[in-house]
Amino acid sequence: MCGIIGIVSKNLFSSEDLLRALKRLEYRGYDSFGYATNSGILEKDIGEIRLLSSNECTTAIGHTRWATHGGVTKLNAHPHADCKNEIFIVHNGIIENYLELKEKLRGHVFRSETDSEVIAHYLEEKLKTKPMREAIIDFINEAEGTFAVVVLQKSGQQLYAFKRDSPLVLGLAGDANIFASDIYAFSDKTNKAVFFEDDEFAEVSDSSYAFYNKSGNMLDKKIYEFEWKEEESEMKFDHYMLKEIYEQPAVAERLINSLRTVQADKLENLVSLIKNSRRIIFIAVGTSYHASLLGVYFLHKAGVEAQTIIASEFKDYANVDENTLVIAITQSGETMDLIDAVKHAKRKGAKIASLVNVPYSTVQRLSDLSLQIEAGQEICVAATKSFMNQVILLLSLAREFGYDVNPEKISEVMRSVFGKEEKIKSIARSLSASKDLYIIGRGLSYPVSREIALKLKEISYVHAEGMMGGELKHGTLALIEEGTPVIALINGNPHIISNAMEVKARGGRIIAVTNQKNLSVAKDLIEIDADNDAAFAIAAIIAGQLLTYYIAKEKDLPIDKPRNLAKSVTVK
Ligand code: G6P
Repeated sequence: MCGIIGIVSKNLFSSEDLLRALKRLEYRGYDSFGYATNSGILEKDIGEIRLLSSNECTTAIGHTRWATHGGVTKLNAHPHADCKNEIFIVHNGIIENYLELKEKLRGHVFRSETDSEVIAHYLEEKLKTKPMREAIIDFINEAEGTFAVVVLQKSGQQLYAFKRDSPLVLGLAGDANIFASDIYAFSDKTNKAVFFEDDEFAEVSDSSYAFYNKSGNMLDKKIYEFEWKEEESEMKFDHYMLKEIYEQPAVAERLINSLRTVQADKLENLVSLIKNSRRIIFIAVGTSYHASLLGVYFLHKAGVEAQTIIASEFKDYANVDENTLVIAITQSGETMDLIDAVKHAKRKGAKIASLVNVPYSTVQRLSDLSLQIEAGQEICVAATKSFMNQVILLLSLAREFGYDVNPEKISEVMRSVFGKEEKIKSIARSLSASKDLYIIGRGLSYPVSREIALKLKEISYVHAEGMMGGELKHGTLALIEEGTPVIALINGNPHIISNAMEVKARGGRIIAVTNQKNLSVAKDLIEIDADNDAAFAIAAIIAGQLLTYYIAKEKDLPIDKPRNLAKSVTVK
């Protein structure tokens, strides 16, 4: 959460260039934005990233905010400055002991309610007696919490950056060095990057860089060359969400192909890790957790015992030892709760495997084995194609153990759902005023019901609950009134039809997503051509994504950037 950037360039660049790079990080948070240049210009505001004044410079920092400490106001927007407006900082993370540090900075004039501002004043104070490098070392030693920080000094030709837990990377673009929260900020300029580890700091100019540990010793850092699939620059859809929904068959094919070729060895290694482990635990959050639920189901069908735990609860719900294989599933590879859980598992001696979208992300670097899900850049905050490829990878994995489903046929099934778009649109129109929605499923359709509910909440702002069909009668049925909409995922299981009937008998309106013929329980039908559970689940996910999209469109909501959310959640 929060995107930070710092650029030192041999050539002059404009505020427009800086904002363009910052825009590439906007999905990390979009409450406010701002930038500062080494000529001392500081511009910031709430709302969409936009040009506030036209300037040119060779050194600048920028920020896009997801608010934690302090409301969404111009004063709380980053960069923050010291008393004299000579030191500017951008920060992602939370300085947990900021009140304590602030207490020691009596006499300094604080302008915001944020924890971050303390960093600028802390450095100002230290610079009275020591150089920047030593001031940063002091900060790293004294600060508690999480941080990725870039520091700019007025008239300075260098930038400084340091981090703990929050992500930070340096891009080497030849004529410029670029600090950023992730590689996407500069992946249009270079594929060469140096990743920060915790408690490291770096000093860069336009032509050189140096990394240090918190004792001040210079480090020899590896330069990584990454491959990254950019989204097409031409946008033919109204929203990235729809574009990414439509990309799913193609990205699934790309993944399947990579599992047969460049990732074949990794898949084989994952299979042997699973065979050689006594306990298999998936960890994930949000949409990725729903993929892991499907993974448990697939593996179970193939005779492999596995469980999944939401990362933030992992420590309390699982025993982990050296015979455990933990499989982390994550699009960004930067989710803080997940990183925390991975580190915990590592300390306990577990092996770590991961399924990740963003190459060289923290989770990938912490893993003993990591497979790419090959979804490419996903811009919409809500995960669609990245979720789908997590599911496809898990399906391919289960197939290695004998689960009898061919992932290669699944892209056809996906495409067939696009043919139902008009029907889905008309159902979406009829649901756009609904305040509550329930989705029921059994077996493989249960995780799907959870995923559809999550999409409805985050994108369509509808209170939605995805649940096991069997659980309905244990409480939720009390909420069913005349016309209450319930989406039933009906895939041949006779009990789910009974559950839908129970809703109907109480006046509820059933919308069936189904591969059954002659279904009488619902008038609203989204019919799916899928002859097995996995294909049905995947098709139902797409139907749910489209339904969500069109409800949100009907309500004129900010589909790609839903309120209060961010794509990469780097706070606990
Ligand atoms: C955020 C995003 C979700 C995503 C979740 C997990 O909440 O808005 O779309 O599912 O994080 O992210 P990860 O990168 O770990 O898959």
